[in-house]
Amino acid sequence: MSNLAIKHGAINLGQGFPNFDGPEFVKDAAIQAIRDGKNQYARGYGVADFNSAIAERFKKDTGLVVDPEKEITVTSGCTEAIAATMLGLINPGDEVILFAPFYDSYEATLSMAGAKITGITLRPPDFSVPIEELKSKISKNTRAILINTPHNPTGKMFTREELSTIASLCIENDVLVFTDEVYDKLAFEMEHISMASLPGMWERTVTLNSLGKTFSLTGWKIGWAIAPPHLTWGVRQAHAFLTFATSTPMQWAAATALRAPDSYYEELKRDYMAKKAILVEGLKAVGFKVFPSSGTYFVVVDHTPFGLANDIEFCEYLIKEVGVVAIPTSVFYLNPEDGKNLVRFTFCKDEGTLKAAVERMKEKLLRK
Ligand SMILES: Cc1ncc(COP(=O)(O)O)c(C=O)c1O
Repeated sequence: MSNLAIKHGAINLGQGFPNFDGPEFVKDAAIQAIRDGKNQYARGYGVADFNSAIAERFKKDTGLVVDPEKEITVTSGCTEAIAATMLGLINPGDEVILFAPFYDSYEATLSMAGAKITGITLRPPDFSVPIEELKSKISKNTRAILINTPHNPTGKMFTREELSTIASLCIENDVLVFTDEVYDKLAFEMEHISMASLPGMWERTVTLNSLGKTFSLTGWKIGWAIAPPHLTWGVRQAHAFLTFATSTPMQWAAATALRAPDSYYEELKRDYMAKKAILVEGLKAVGFKVFPSSGTYFVVVDHTPFGLANDIEFCEYLIKEVGVVAIPTSVFYLNPEDGKNLVRFTFCKDEGTLKAAVERMKEKLLRK
């Protein structure tokens, strides 16, 4: 889609990276770290000061006190944390439950680990967890369940009730939880809840996160996994042979980032809420059915009022005839048919770009 977009000069509301830069104080910290000679291999599981900054942040967010030396592993983006978790803690043949739609690296890395994937589809309008289906699929043979909240691509946030039900099923069946929380600071409509903070869950949960979304620095690829020592052991075994260590100066800068004052996070949220309003109101005015998005910088719509056969045809039409890029969601499902009516737009773009995309759609996208 991005290649087609370049060819047609389309406005890219597809791939989830900001078209604006990260904060000056974090970039300055990176430059300073390089100038200060922090340029050789970092310790495998992270620069000590960064591990501490992650622990401080996690305590502020969840109330949990973790040991930065034994319970935190720094990785090259959340993507590596995901891979290290799957490869380090899943054995060939292990059953893992995956909610679809999902971030594509889950399925890929589970396949690399030889997992047996059991899918459960979250369906519009609210993409809530089908509890009865979950109860019928989880068992003592289940090794782990994957959660992503706030959720890419739908913007769904798992409610406390959903998380509590999942938690009690995991405790009952002795199941691990891998929870991807990279959008935790982009929670607009409700409070973000970390699975690890629920009673009885810390000892069976790996929490995955990264710097990219919160600090508009997706190209830095700094991530981490937080887990009790017996799970961290597995994550580190895999990490040691995936990348061994992550960029040293960027870890020093990331420590500065995570110690940002509350006002940074408040402003980030305010900015994104303004962007979201422009896109959501615009998409509604164009004629899409827009599904509620509580967090992330994504929103999912039903494209069927415009008469195209499926999400891929719609996205191709949107690029070639209208000049706007969206992402077909069928790529996020085990069964692509489940996503054929839905496409994803992102609002991690400056307001001028969002308004221009909406104008193009208002002008050229006609209902059939
Ligand atoms: C749900 C989810 N997890 C992880 C990532 C990747 O994070 P990172 O860039 O830190 O590897 C993304 C990026 O789009 C994502 O949407």
